[in-house]
Amino acid sequence: MITLNLKKNVDSKVLHHHPWIAKNLFDKPNESVNPGEIIEVRDAHNQFVSRGFANSLSFFYYRAVTFDSREKLENKLSFLQERLYDLFIQRLSLGYNRSFRLCFSENDSLPGLIVDRFLSEKNQQAYQVFVVQVTTAGINSYISDPLKVFKNLVDRLAQENRILIPWERSIVVMRNDIKIREKEGLPFGPPQVLNNEQKVDLSTMPILIDHQFLKSEIKMQADLMGGQKTGFFLDQNYNLLRVAEIFTEYVKFFKPQNVRIMDICCHLGQWSAYLGIILKQMGVKTELVLVDISQDALNKAKATMDSYGIHVECRMIDVLDEAFVIEDKSYDLIIVDPPAFAKSKDHVPAAKSAYQKLNLKAYKGIKKYGFVVSCSCSGAISLEDLKDSVNRAQIKAFRSGKIVAQGGHAADHPHLFSFPEGYYLKMITAQVI
Ligand SMILES: C[S@@+](CC[C@H](N)C(=O)[O-])C[C@H]1O[C@@H](n2cnc3c(N)ncnc32)[C@H](O)[C@@H]1O
Repeated sequence: MITLNLKKNVDSKVLHHHPWIAKNLFDKPNESVNPGEIIEVRDAHNQFVSRGFANSLSFFYYRAVTFDSREKLENKLSFLQERLYDLFIQRLSLGYNRSFRLCFSENDSLPGLIVDRFLSEKNQQAYQVFVVQVTTAGINSYISDPLKVFKNLVDRLAQENRILIPWERSIVVMRNDIKIREKEGLPFGPPQVLNNEQKVDLSTMPILIDHQFLKSEIKMQADLMGGQKTGFFLDQNYNLLRVAEIFTEYVKFFKPQNVRIMDICCHLGQWSAYLGIILKQMGVKTELVLVDISQDALNKAKATMDSYGIHVECRMIDVLDEAFVIEDKSYDLIIVDPPAFAKSKDHVPAAKSAYQKLNLKAYKGIKKYGFVVSCSCSGAISLEDLKDSVNRAQIKAFRSGKIVAQGGHAADHPHLFSFPEGYYLKMITAQVI
């Protein structure tokens, strides 16, 4: 194993378990490391710092996997199997039993590995689908045999009666159709499906999501083969709960004849489904308008809502376009959950102006005492950046909002103390007068 020493007086964040180390912080960085090669990092006094992998092709030369000097990384298969098992136990212990993020890359000390576990049903049988995205050469070398990795995980958990679904009804989808892989020297290509003996159609798949407000489940239509990211945005489940708690109090208090909700950048419509089901159970007449640029996403959202007997109006439009306007002061709740406008720090000013532009439309369109939920899923946009953009929007709209709830990604997307870059999702909900 190659050992590399850090320069003297490197930034303290490196010594406080930040998982990324840039090449210029090493005393003598090795230019010829193989992509993903295991490296031990020591400080300038030769004291152990961490072990992880390096890739001289990558912007982040080194990513840490362990800060424990006793932990060895060479036996890659058994190391990964043990980590994934441990992560599964962690998620179960947080109350996740249906669909959840099993592995959250750096935040779960497996840099470049995302695994979402979706619970599904076909012909009255439960299935689990592991959707996997690999974005680093290091992790790629650990998961060279995904079938073996996931079979081991499922068999072990099933034997211990921690899960009820056997390997025969477990499917693995390798979603390596992401361009970013090229930056690490990895090929990208169409999704690869493993262990799908029953030929389950993964592109129109009902997935079961925890409905924490109703303490039950909600069945959403998703495309695990070609849908955005892993097919579904699991990260909002805490924010959904928080907004549902607040909004139902508003509905009970004002008893509107007709509750109007607009779900901007709705994707598969989880906000609408979640709130629509609650309001239907409360016997409240609700008008739901779903907006997205993707017709495919809107079709799936509509199919979900139809299955619950909830009528929705779908609008396929570019929400940044001038043609997208919201009638003045007409909605009780508007959710603004756009894509990541800032992919890096360089994009922050342009992204902030896009968040402002979109939130301006929402703040004009909200009724007095209604709520605007403003989200940003850009790692480069801080909570303060988002607040600043929304504040400017409300001032321009001649409205006045006060923040009543704030949130981030849910507990199945934990984040490290030492890694602010890993905390990407921010949500603020304001009551507007
Ligand atoms: C972060 S996702 C939204 C997630 C969704 N709200 C949920 O909770 O599952 C962003 C969505 O914005 C849509 N989108 C991207 N650019 C858009 C645009 N210019 N106009 C409208 N929708 C857009 C994408 O199709 C995607 O569905």
